Amino acid sequence: MKNDDREIMLGKYETILVTGGSGFIGGHLVDKLITLNKKIILIDRVEPTIKSNQVNWIKEDIRKKVRIHDIMMKHKPNLIFHVAANANGSLSVTQPEVDFSNNVIGSTNIFYAARDAKVKRIVNVSSASVYGIPQIFPISEEHPRDPFVPYGAGKRAVEILATAYYHTWGLPIVSIRPFCVYGPGENMKATLVEPSRYASWHINNGKIPVIGDPDRKTRDFVYVDDVVRGMLILAERGKLGEQYNVGSGTETTMRQLVEAIDKATGKTATIEANREITEDTYRLVGDIEKLKSLGYRPQTSLEDGIQKLVQSFRKMYGDKPPLPNVPTIFNSAQIGEMRNK
Ligand SMILES: NC(=O)c1ccc[n+]([C@@H]2O[C@H](COP(=O)([O-])OP(=O)(O)OC[C@H]3O[C@@H](n4cnc5c(N)ncnc54)[C@H](O)[C@@H]3O)[C@@H](O)[C@H]2O)c1
Repeated sequence: MKNDDREIMLGKYETILVTGGSGFIGGHLVDKLITLNKKIILIDRVEPTIKSNQVNWIKEDIRKKVRIHDIMMKHKPNLIFHVAANANGSLSVTQPEVDFSNNVIGSTNIFYAARDAKVKRIVNVSSASVYGIPQIFPISEEHPRDPFVPYGAGKRAVEILATAYYHTWGLPIVSIRPFCVYGPGENMKATLVEPSRYASWHINNGKIPVIGDPDRKTRDFVYVDDVVRGMLILAERGKLGEQYNVGSGTETTMRQLVEAIDKATGKTATIEANREITEDTYRLVGDIEKLKSLGYRPQTSLEDGIQKLVQSFRKMYGDKPPLPNVPTIFNSAQIGEMRNK
């Protein structure tokens, strides 16, 4: 079948640069690229857990413009997956300058160097946070972009810059907007996405602290390998200068998520709903038709994905997966899950 994502081999690209390849999504991407026999340049300030002679880890900070330029000119990648960022929206509320320097300045450094190195294509990882509080369901790429956290504002700024560089420099760039990504390999302490947080509370025999109304708050949870598949499709045939959602296209309530975790763990969770925190009770579901038109199909159901997540926790941590230790923050006055810590 034409446009079938199973056939994606990235045959046009030999050397691929992955920024943020030591992180959660970047790590899964690098795993996949290894199976495709690619030569991978991995820029991250943290050492990757993946060990392979196909991977050349360069310990560097993307905020260092000259160093990034030197690396790019030396290795001349054909394709860049720009994944590195501060992925913690709460940090962007308390320390917006940290978020801005990593996500906006860092991205500009990558794009500038990519232009000089004559890269064939860049897949820029943005975020569904660019939409802000959803107004229309499901959320297509045309939905108003009105972010409400500085993290989303930074991600939107980078998308706008990417399109401007596409028009002015001819930078061959396409952006992807993941919804709520989950799966094995997340930084358990730092994650803000509900599946890992809830599963770790539950396996530790704690109550699950749901922020907002468990029956009205919804999210689009997408398994990490589906996001990687979406990124490969954009590397192969995404339209340059544009943005694409990647999600499951399925709306899940927090109660349904807890039920999926119950099923995977074999025990029933107690929900501790914090309904007074209303700012997080909104619906979120992506319209994924644009990416589907290129052949994308989400392949992992929530039930299967949560099974894999819980199995990975059990394998790595037994009955004591690390609990999240970053607070969910909605505005400087409203702290969610870790409010007593
Ligand atoms: N996880 C999600 O649900 C989600 C949703 C939407 C978008 N995203 C985006 O996906 C990307 C990956 O997110 P993730 O969840 O894998 O996060 P992560 O924190 O696990 O990975 C980010 C990686 O980037 C590296 N990094 C950060 N700043 C850097 C810098 N200045 N220089 C060098 N390396 C740096 C980190 O060391 C880390 O390895 C990010 O751009 C994030 O904004 C994530």
